[in-house]
Amino acid sequence: MPLAKRLRVKPRDLAEKLIARLNDSPDFTAVFEPIEGPVGPGFVNVRVRDDALARGVAAACGDARLGVLPLAQPETIVLDYSSPNVAKPMHVGHIRSTVIGDALARILRFRGHRVITDNHLGDWGTQFGMILWGWKHCREDAAYAADPTAELGRLYRLVRKVVDAKPEELAADPVAKELAAAHPEAGREVLLETAKLHEGDAENRKLWEEFMPVCRQEIERIYQRLDIEFDHTLGESFFQPLLHGVVEDLQASGLARESRGAIGVFLDGQETPLLIRKADGAFLYATTDLATIAWRAEHWRPDRILYIVDHRQSQHFQQVFATARSWGCRAAKQLAAMELVHIAFGTVLGEDGKPFKTRAGDTVGLEALLDEGVERAAAIVGEGEHARQGMDEAQRKAVAEAVGIGAIKYADLSQNRTTDYVFSFDKMLELKGNTAAYMQYAVARVEGIAGRGGIDREALRQQVAADPTAVELVDPRERRLALNVLRLAAVLEDVESDYRPNVLTAWLFELAGSFSSFYDALPVLKAEGRQRTTRLALADLTGRTLRQGLELLGIRVPKQM
Ligand code: ARG
Repeated sequence: MPLAKRLRVKPRDLAEKLIARLNDSPDFTAVFEPIEGPVGPGFVNVRVRDDALARGVAAACGDARLGVLPLAQPETIVLDYSSPNVAKPMHVGHIRSTVIGDALARILRFRGHRVITDNHLGDWGTQFGMILWGWKHCREDAAYAADPTAELGRLYRLVRKVVDAKPEELAADPVAKELAAAHPEAGREVLLETAKLHEGDAENRKLWEEFMPVCRQEIERIYQRLDIEFDHTLGESFFQPLLHGVVEDLQASGLARESRGAIGVFLDGQETPLLIRKADGAFLYATTDLATIAWRAEHWRPDRILYIVDHRQSQHFQQVFATARSWGCRAAKQLAAMELVHIAFGTVLGEDGKPFKTRAGDTVGLEALLDEGVERAAAIVGEGEHARQGMDEAQRKAVAEAVGIGAIKYADLSQNRTTDYVFSFDKMLELKGNTAAYMQYAVARVEGIAGRGGIDREALRQQVAADPTAVELVDPRERRLALNVLRLAAVLEDVESDYRPNVLTAWLFELAGSFSSFYDALPVLKAEGRQRTTRLALADLTGRTLRQGLELLGIRVPKQM
């Protein structure tokens, strides 16, 4: 209809012409039924032929990629996500970047892009000043020897309290209170420790080198539990030697200039300049980000860099990207060709609708959160029916881990990423509704059919791939399931177009629904002949597709629930 408007013809007349041409085209009629004529004001309804649909099912059955063709023109895409500030314990705020970034990396890679993941660790910031100061004034050597991570965590929390806490919070913590009283200048001294580290002070540098592996071990443990791996973990410290050059370059190209001792980038249309060097000589977060962009451009030559970072940093990225673009136009060509995208997301809220905090008002530690999810999942897995299935303790534990972690990931991924969402264990662990547990259970149920029937799934796939006429779609529920299960490629394209994993979760949920309607109404193992092969093939393909979909979200699927 918009086309008819542009051409100034009647929609129905245009539709008639279009239909005539399509019905005449062998490419079209190989896949679609002849179109009967325009409907109403000029709608053109097309219907996929049963045999074409059956061929699609057979081909997907025989394909390790489930019918998804790898992209003809893949791009090199860098993903920057998770990126916690180390030396502080990871908290609930880190879950979104980590989980969304990982899912997008898996999806883009599966589509055929060359994906490079880089965890841009905050390993050079003021938190090290706190730890260094704490180490020098109140470390407990025995505790450090026994559990270095825990001791560094204690030091961080303690010093932060000494420096930042309100009087009433201090009053509640006698150790912190005493320390604060003994060191009234603690705040200034902490900054000094950071500055010394940045200037290359030998002692602080040596301590930093000792602390870093300890801090990284801590976050590595969490990534392992979350099934997350990075190609690179370069971190802010890696780019420090380059910062001088970045500032010089930007000054030389006329983008940056001095203003009251500091150096900033002044761009047209920006109200405030982007500071890249403070008056005291210190570099900033933005300086590191600019150096990182230039380094990635030179070493990885990406077409795109995606930053999966909290929406509160959108102004930062807007300015950094604009600077990089102008810099590219003036001096560094490869920068101009890259697409830079900030993939922002909203906040995790508690059930009271406010940012998620513990009852005491602290941020919720990520590890404790994972533990609680798994513990609650264990309670479900241990219940009645499941226990009777004869899982042993180790199996039940593995299932609880997959269900608990899967629930947390899925609850996050199934939200529209730009909105805030309420974190609720009760909701995310429900066995009905759009949850990981429901989806994992659906896979187990679908895959269980072949098991009960003693079906050799591999042989079935080969059979239908070799002879597509073994698949014949007759019942409307078979048709609906077939149409739905073949949408994987289109759905993944949609996910990429706006970087929204919830498009995938919504479709998987729908697919599980169309399988239920199919399976509740039609016998599968008890069917005969071609009908049995068709239904088994549909079940097999649905099971694999659901499993693949969950894998692309980074969610493990236990064989048995
Ligand atoms: N470390 C930062 C933070 O915790 C996030 C870093 C995001 N990535 C980047 N290239 N700036 O806020």
